[in-house]
Amino acid sequence: MSGRTIALVTGANKGIGYEIAAGLGALGWRIGVGARDRKRRDTAVEKLRAAGADAFGVPLDVADDASAAAAAELVADRAGGLDVLVNNAAITGGMPQTPTTVDPATVRAVVETNVIGVVRVTNAMLPMLRGSASPRIVNVSSSVGSLTLQTTPGIDMGPVPVAYLASKTFLNAVTVQYAKELSGTGILVNSACPGFTATDLNGFRGVRTPRQGAAVAIRLATLPDDGPTGGFFDDGGAVPW
Ligand SMILES: NC(=O)c1ccc[n+]([C@@H]2O[C@H](COP(=O)([O-])OP(=O)(O)OC[C@H]3O[C@@H](n4cnc5c(N)ncnc54)[C@H](OP(=O)(O)O)[C@@H]3O)[C@@H](O)[C@H]2O)c1
Repeated sequence: MSGRTIALVTGANKGIGYEIAAGLGALGWRIGVGARDRKRRDTAVEKLRAAGADAFGVPLDVADDASAAAAAELVADRAGGLDVLVNNAAITGGMPQTPTTVDPATVRAVVETNVIGVVRVTNAMLPMLRGSASPRIVNVSSSVGSLTLQTTPGIDMGPVPVAYLASKTFLNAVTVQYAKELSGTGILVNSACPGFTATDLNGFRGVRTPRQGAAVAIRLATLPDDGPTGGFFDDGGAVPW
């Protein structure tokens, strides 16, 4: 591996993922731009390179086993290793998603991308991460997945998108389990909440910019070796589970 830090960001072609890639690229890191659509991926890579980042495209559909395996091979070939994985890609599955009427196929599709996709990509990349001096895994989650916030009287978390919301609760549980298994290996694993950010995901109704939304993931991607693991954070600090 070269002396440079190498990161892979999933769903990096737009929104918060793009800004995470841009922020890590601005640190002088080599950035793999994980994206499933060739045109959108190429456009993002070109834009990042124009801004001075050392970016390369990584074809990656997080819902596909073969794609994740091929992405790991490509990163190994192009970069020789991996230090930081940011699992950012996600879907909402479309709204409304009321628990009593939701199509089970929607729940399945959302969990496939938002949770199993993270497990699939993480496990494909783990052999490289284990070879890094300061490996980090950041799972981009959401405070809507916080059972504590959801059940605290007086806190209004908005409508109940049951598949999306529960996928983030599930993802947080996955973060904790990875952190526990990987404790002592130097691999720090944390969940990040970007806050309500104006992106395609919510029809640009969010109040934060994608750059603001990217900040917490960038912070967790650049944690010192004695940084936290198995936590859930936003810009304000720890988020309750
Ligand atoms: N926006 C918010 O207010 C907010 C709040 C809390 C948490 N988050 C989280 O922040 C992260 C980024 O969301 P965003 O707001 O930036 O949304 P976005 O603009 O819709 O971006 C989502 C990204 O995920 C990619 N993606 C979806 N399914 C994929 C798959 N199967 N394989 C590979 N890539 C896939 C999309 O690629 P395509 O372009 O190909 O669809 C896109 O690049 C998500 O984890 C989201 O849950 C967002």
